[in-house]
Amino acid sequence: MIKCGVIGCGVIAPTHIEGYQALPGVEVVHLCDLIPERAAALGEKYGIPRCSADYRELLADPEVQLVSVCTDHASHADIVVAALEAGKHVVCEKSLGRIPADLDRMVAAANAHPELVSSGIFQHRFQPANRHLRQLLMDGKFGRVVLLNLVFSCLRTAEYYQKDAWRGTFAGEGGGILINQAIHHLDQLRFLFGDVRRLAARSANLTHQGVIEVEDTAAFLLEFESGLLGTVTATNSAAAEWRTLLSIIGTDVCLEYANEQPVHVEGADNTLVHEIEAALMEKSAEKVVGKHYYGVGHTAQLGDVVEAIRNHRKPEVTLADAADSSALVMAVYESAAHGGEWVSVRKY
Ligand SMILES: NC(=O)c1ccc[n+]([C@@H]2O[C@H](COP(=O)([O-])OP(=O)(O)OC[C@H]3O[C@@H](n4cnc5c(N)ncnc54)[C@H](O)[C@@H]3O)[C@@H](O)[C@H]2O)c1
Repeated sequence: MIKCGVIGCGVIAPTHIEGYQALPGVEVVHLCDLIPERAAALGEKYGIPRCSADYRELLADPEVQLVSVCTDHASHADIVVAALEAGKHVVCEKSLGRIPADLDRMVAAANAHPELVSSGIFQHRFQPANRHLRQLLMDGKFGRVVLLNLVFSCLRTAEYYQKDAWRGTFAGEGGGILINQAIHHLDQLRFLFGDVRRLAARSANLTHQGVIEVEDTAAFLLEFESGLLGTVTATNSAAAEWRTLLSIIGTDVCLEYANEQPVHVEGADNTLVHEIEAALMEKSAEKVVGKHYYGVGHTAQLGDVVEAIRNHRKPEVTLADAADSSALVMAVYESAAHGGEWVSVRKY
């Protein structure tokens, strides 16, 4: 039996608890939140025996082997480092850190404890459709991919930001649309197309003036290590709850992939086009845990972390890999802060 603790009992915590409880041989035994009623309420709902208000108490629980960190971005680095130093395996929600110094500390702690499994949540990598798409790209079915374009739009209202003090602040969240919402799909670009070498960005606060300190809208140009060029535009001021449109332009196949489903596939080989469309449709129809746009991936990713512990192997998303996606966001912020200058992306 692998016994787990969850630190932070807000919006995302139930997705972790339900994910663990769906896995054979895994039990959640300890919850923690600075607000004791939040931990107590989830403890009662999910039948979890122990609750604490101080994460150090949870980390001192000898029964806990694996910890999920589900707190605000600013607290991730301290908790992850303390968890590893306490001898716990750890999986941390995105964004792994708030600023580059957080990522440095977390990756250094992970490197100092290779005997422990450490991972960052990017559950979209575990969506069956995304995995299939990655395989198609790796198999060369698209020919050479020469361009990509990601348009991401969602709606985050003033009420959303006013609900919790950390949201929309540099000190608590570290940024806006990019570090919290778009990061999922920026990680997806790394998953599908590899690392980004450099980027040039602009950002703005267009509809949340006086509500948030950070960006609600951004646009940037990406140059991947492979030479592939791409653009990303993202806003949380849209008349859409959560919408992604990824256009992949290959020399053999072009795909428009909206909300992780194929909406248009084109190419000279009709058989291949139909095969790609049918397979992506089928794989995008799996059951969802949590809000629909969280996708099906949390349970699968937590399952991978548990299997990594059991088999003494690395998880599919290592802490350094998750740090690379946060570093991509931080490079966008650096470029935007310097008027759109080209900035190299740090790699851990
Ligand atoms: N993967 C996803 O799809 C997804 C979705 C939503 C949120 N998230 C991420 O999950 C994390 C939490 O987001 P949320 O929306 O659940 O936030 P939230 O504000 O709803 O919950 C965070 C909880 O952590 C608690 N907390 C803060 N510092 C703490 C500490 N030092 N010790 C113990 N408890 C502490 C707070 O009291 C709060 O209850 C963020 O990193 C966010 O980006 C990921």
